[in-house]
Amino acid sequence: MPTPSQGDGPQSSAAVSTVGLRKSYGDKTVLDGIDLRIPAGSVFALLGPNGAGKTTAVKILSTLITADGGHAQVAGHDLATSPDGVRAAIGVTGQFSAVDGLITGEENMLLMADLHHLSKREGRQVTAELLERFDLTEAAKKPASTYSGGMKRRLDIAMTLVGKPRIIFLDEPTTGLDPRSRHTMWGIIRELVSDGVTVFLTTQYLEEADELADRIAVLNDGKIAAQGTAEELKRLVPGGHVRLRFTDPAAYQSAAVALREATRDDEALALQIPSDGSQRELRSVLDWLDSAGIEADELTVHTPDLDDVFFALTGGAGVPDQSKETVR
Ligand SMILES: Nc1ncnc2c1ncn2[C@@H]1O[C@H](COP(=O)(O)OP(=O)(O)OP(=O)(O)O)[C@@H](O)[C@H]1O
Ligand SMILES: [Mg+2]
Repeated sequence: MPTPSQGDGPQSSAAVSTVGLRKSYGDKTVLDGIDLRIPAGSVFALLGPNGAGKTTAVKILSTLITADGGHAQVAGHDLATSPDGVRAAIGVTGQFSAVDGLITGEENMLLMADLHHLSKREGRQVTAELLERFDLTEAAKKPASTYSGGMKRRLDIAMTLVGKPRIIFLDEPTTGLDPRSRHTMWGIIRELVSDGVTVFLTTQYLEEADELADRIAVLNDGKIAAQGTAEELKRLVPGGHVRLRFTDPAAYQSAAVALREATRDDEALALQIPSDGSQRELRSVLDWLDSAGIEADELTVHTPDLDDVFFALTGGAGVPDQSKETVR
């Protein structure tokens, strides 16, 4: 199982690092020893089923609640001894909107500028810039209660950016957004990262983690069940295979005899050979087919996706979906 590199010394530029982080509510252990190391300037996605403890982790790391045990550093500041230092470096967009619906989008922004002790002039300038960047200039003078879900989410993130944080925590930034708004949000997140901001996000959308995250951790039962890049995680679950399809029944029959370890699908005249989908394995399958003189009419590579990983690691009731395929 891939694990983060450890022990690269105090000079290492981890934006967030935790060792043995623990949190319980009553007799319910929510976080049972969490170790994370998130390099500065990267996107980290924390995945997990409902109630896994994602929001709890975000709240601890953003100093909103305290951990029961373990150590954590955020932006070089110790969470326990220097929470003010942590607060000055971060921005948090919670799972539930912080937007005040009774006042306008612009007023929400100016309020944040006041909280960050910006001068009136600076506050107005930052507000105008961010409203523009988040495509909210037109709606700026309308009460936020009249905004759509996507607009509120954009305003939420714009408010988080008023203090120019170097690390931002986004707790389910795209839940409830339509596909277009989700893509807009992804663009915003990528832009932040290209400015050197570190993004810690939680998400229910595996596709989102796959798109955005440099590293992904899957939280289950209070522990990190696995972490790594999307590709590394996908390799952890079985189900990858090469599928060969034939149109000529005779060719299919002779291939089936030659490829004894393949799973047969007589109806579709198709054979499945287990493979991790890597270039190396694919090449050996192709070499083998060549040497056996087998020519299939169609060859597709099926790789497990993050949904499969999620189900396998979080004990969900779902059956890994083998229908998704990558044709290469
Ligand atoms: N203040 C609290 N008091 C008691 N239990 C709590 C409290 N906050 C969270 N919990 C419990 O801790 C567990 C983890 O909650 P958390 O909100 O961190 O999950 P999550 O992974 O963010 O879930 P979701 O995907 O639904 O947002 C849940 O069982 C929840 O009921
Ligand atoms: Mg949550």
